[in-house]
Parts: sequence; C-alpha cells; structure tokens
Amino acid sequence: MSVIGPAIRIEGLTKRYGSGDTAVDALRNVDMSIDPGEVVGLIGPSGSGKSTLLKCLGAVIEPTKGKISLSGQPIYDSDAGGWQSRDLHALRRDRIGFIFQAPYLIPFLNATDNVALLPMLAGNSNASARQRAGELLQALQVAHRASAAVSQLSGGEQQRIAIARALANQPPVILADEPTAPLDSERALNVIHILNQMAQQYQTAIIIVTHDEKIIPTFKRLYRIVDGRTHEEAGEGRVV
Ligand SMILES: Nc1ncnc2c1ncn2[C@@H]1O[C@H](COP(=O)(O)OP(=O)(O)OP(=O)(O)O)[C@@H](O)[C@H]1O
Ligand SMILES: [Mg+2]
Repeated sequence: MSVIGPAIRIEGLTKRYGSGDTAVDALRNVDMSIDPGEVVGLIGPSGSGKSTLLKCLGAVIEPTKGKISLSGQPIYDSDAGGWQSRDLHALRRDRIGFIFQAPYLIPFLNATDNVALLPMLAGNSNASARQRAGELLQALQVAHRASAAVSQLSGGEQQRIAIARALANQPPVILADEPTAPLDSERALNVIHILNQMAQQYQTAIIIVTHDEKIIPTFKRLYRIVDGRTHEEAGEGRVV
C-alpha cells in the first residue's frame, strides 16, 4: 500500500469575505495537518474563524488562497485554478461527514430513515443501510425513538440522530461544529466517546469545534484559532 500521508492537510489557507472597506480576513495563512484516526479540537473566541475553516474544508465555501488535500489528494489549490474536483457534491457526500450545531434532519422521515438515507444514496441495499442505522442509533442511545417522526423528538435526540447520520457512510473525514451544544454533559461525553471509537476503528480524521470545558480535556491535540491564525497546542488526552 502506498503512503498517503495525513488525512487532512491545509497549507497557507486564507479566506477573505467581501472586498474593500468591508472585507473580513476570517482565515490568515492557516496550516494544519491531521492524521487518519486522529481527533483534534478546534477552539477559539467567537468570530475567530472556526466555522469558516470547517466550511472551507468541507467545500461549502471557497477559500481565497492556499491548499487543501484529503488523503494526499489535492482538493483545493489556488495556484492550480481553485477546486480540483468538478463534483463537489460527490466529494461532500462520499468523503466528509458533517455535524452542525443544529441537526438539519429531514422532518418527514423517521429517525432510522434519516440515518439510512445516505448509505442508500451511496449504493447500499435498503436492508444493510437500515441495519447500520439501527446500530448507530443504539450506540447513540436513541434507538428507542427509531421509528418516531424526527419533528417530534427533543433537540438532544435530534442531534444524536444527526451524529448517527454523519457516521453512517464511514467517511474518512468528519467535521463537527459544536456537535454537543444541545446535549447535557453526560450525553456530550458519550458523543465524544463514540467519535473517538469511530476514529480508532475506521481511521477517521475528526475535527471538533467546541467551547465545552468538559470536552476540551479529552483532546490529545488542539488548534487554537485567534483572529484567523491557528496555534497548535498539546491537550490532556483524557480518556472518556
Ligand atoms: N458570509 C460571511 N460574510 C462576511 N463575513 C463573514 C461571513 N461569515 C463569517 N464572517 C465573518 O468571519 C469571521 C469568522 O467567522 P466564523 O463564523 O468563522 O467564526 P467562529 O469562530 O465560527 O465564531 P463562533 O464561535 O461565534 O461560531 C467573523 O468576523 C464573521 O463575522
Ligand atoms: Mg462558528
């Protein structure tokens, strides 16, 4: 097998919103490297550029300058014309799992179908997609609500279903923007435990944006972002 290097590599990433007097430099020359199987925290004050970084990485917004590679494959390179893939939709669907602060579930589908949809779209059989959804809902302690319409679930239940959905296709990269914000601290730590397990089992690279003081000590490695510039820090790596 060839050596593919880091799961995520960012070099000199810069993002400027707008232009002229109202321009905002949200990211300034950010470098970052995350190995397969690593769970890394991204912390920093409000407005420092955390969500902007995840959105650039997830091909949701276009950076202004720099390079992004996933598993050694260039995804974005401003010196080579920008996005290196013509099908960003497929890139997001097949290679990146997103967890947002708000769950964004499909309200008229039940919990199982919300989770099973992506594996089905990726070509898995109905039965295997549903089986996988069931296992994930179990792991996230929300299996008892599997056949409920998601609009009738609590915010925390909806968020755990959204997390199950992000894990369903076993993407090599998971980007989580304050994933535990609507959860109580026990459930928040359970979610971190599951993400760590996922990272180990499938060599997933995971970036978690958080303000949560209970979660921050669990990271072995952190990036602190201040005014669009990242600083790498060692974390406590507390096991949960
Ligand atoms: N679409 C946009 N247009 C213009 N400026 C934007 C846009 N999105 C974000 N910004 C600005 O870019 C900077 C970084 O925003 P970003 O959302 O990345 O911060 P954040 O670290 O995620 O903050 P928070 O912790 O509050 O979520 C902020 O100054 C913000 O106002
Ligand atoms: Mg944000």
